[in-house]
Amino acid sequence: DDPADLIDRPPVVTVMGHVDHGKTLLLDSIRNADVVSGEAGGITQHIGAYQVTRDGRKITFIDTPGHEAFTAMRARGASVTDVAILVVAADDGVKPQTVEAIDHIKAADVPLMVAVNKIDKENADPVKVRTQLTEYELIAEEFGGDTTMVNVSAKTGENLDELLDLILLQADVEETKANPNRDARGTVIEAHLDRGRGAVATVLVQNGTLRVGDNLVAGVASCKVRAMFDDVGERVTEAEPSKPVMVLGWSDVPDAGDEFRVVDDERTARDIAGDRATRARKEELANRPR
Ligand code: GTP
Ligand code: NA
Ligand code: MG
Repeated sequence: DDPADLIDRPPVVTVMGHVDHGKTLLLDSIRNADVVSGEAGGITQHIGAYQVTRDGRKITFIDTPGHEAFTAMRARGASVTDVAILVVAADDGVKPQTVEAIDHIKAADVPLMVAVNKIDKENADPVKVRTQLTEYELIAEEFGGDTTMVNVSAKTGENLDELLDLILLQADVEETKANPNRDARGTVIEAHLDRGRGAVATVLVQNGTLRVGDNLVAGVASCKVRAMFDDVGERVTEAEPSKPVMVLGWSDVPDAGDEFRVVDDERTARDIAGDRATRARKEELANRPR
């Protein structure tokens, strides 16, 4: 990229943690407090990724499920992210998916902050959480370490502003640049088959600008982008770096974590995806026990 083309893109923040520790409510609360989303009517079309604005700056959040079955999504979430927020419920403490999330975040070499959630609960023990986390080499600043940990309540909204400020401070240290003047590339965050609309995928644009009409390949799926929707369900024609959008027009359902890129035409997209599908089927046959 020509350095002259590089612009600051919003930081991408992934929220991870054990099942039911409050990741989604935390993001919903941050989002509901956000003026821009509020003005859009508060219709939450849940695409698992969205942007909020704080002090005129955008932050992109990605939600991940804590359920055991979603290990791959957490691994992939960690890899697209600039800052990881580890959510630990103060009444429940460190649990298996907390530890697994820590492993993914460390493997991806991403800066990590801890949100000690549910501090409104009577049996909350945020000091115990900090003590437990020392076993995983996460030492809170108030314990003399260098890991930022904030007590929050997704339910009451306590300290969520502080959390956002700390995220922006951390983001200032990171290199979050991108070139909007090129073909888009990025990662599939979530994908499923919709009864009415066919295959639907939420993608995060990591570089370039994605446009309606672009031809994409992601894993074994191809796509001529028929329509795109932003995180409040508004139809958009373009998506710039760090913007999550829901994309319609896929030949197949891509996998969460698949990287997408733009190719010259529909034919090329279909050929590449078709070749990959054939290769995948051959490998599957070759590996089948006989
Ligand atoms: P998974 O996506 O299933 O892994 O769960 P999650 O981490 O997204 O948790 P979710 O936001 O679904 O919250 C789980 C439950 O905890 C819900 O009943 C929330 O209302 C509740 N909860 C979340 N945060 C808080 C909090 O700060 N205080 C209290 N009291 N309850 C909370
Ligand atoms: Na839940
Ligand atoms: Mg959730």
